Amino acid sequence: MPVTTGEFRRALGQFATGVTVITVTRESGLVHGMTANSFASVSLDPLQVLVCVDHRAQTHYLVQEQKLFGINILAENQEELARYFARPEQDPEDASQLGVRIRASDRGTPLLDGAVVQLDCQLARVVQSGDHSIFIADVHSIELHGGRPLVFHAGQYKRLPDEE
Ligand SMILES: Cc1cc2nc3c(=O)[nH]c(=O)nc-3n(C[C@H](O)[C@H](O)[C@H](O)COP(=O)(O)O)c2cc1C
Repeated sequence: MPVTTGEFRRALGQFATGVTVITVTRESGLVHGMTANSFASVSLDPLQVLVCVDHRAQTHYLVQEQKLFGINILAENQEELARYFARPEQDPEDASQLGVRIRASDRGTPLLDGAVVQLDCQLARVVQSGDHSIFIADVHSIELHGGRPLVFHAGQYKRLPDEE
């Protein structure tokens, strides 16, 4: 029997991940964000990571246009930001109420404050696959702030249990 999309989603949802927000500059100088958990490490030499982005996402167009983008690994207290950046419409007023703070890296890549890790990335290669593109990026710099990461599992945001 062929696998349905629902079965596929439920099965893949058992793979617990962290949660990232991709941050990229929009034409107007504003910053667009997209919640993504398809993030993975690719290569150590050169340092490369990947994220898979739906062809229909605004981020798909923006990353290919701008080339520079941030990957921010969310902290456990940033669940509301994960929800906000998974919405198709982003209202700057809502963002400011939620405490979204964006800061530019030394070369102008937008990065999200409060993330446990911020990666300043540059698009290196795009691989088309099905309805998503795999964006492979060189990592220009890393800010490792520490703290506990937000987790996504079985369609829900979760926190790591307290250590003994
Ligand atoms: C936890 C979570 C993880 C997600 N991961 C991805 C992802 O890896 N790739 C993707 O294209 N969309 C992903 N999405 C969906 C996008 O965040 C959402 O469709 C977004 O509105 C599309 O981006 P846009 O604002 O650039 O159009 C995820 C959503 C959630 C809630």
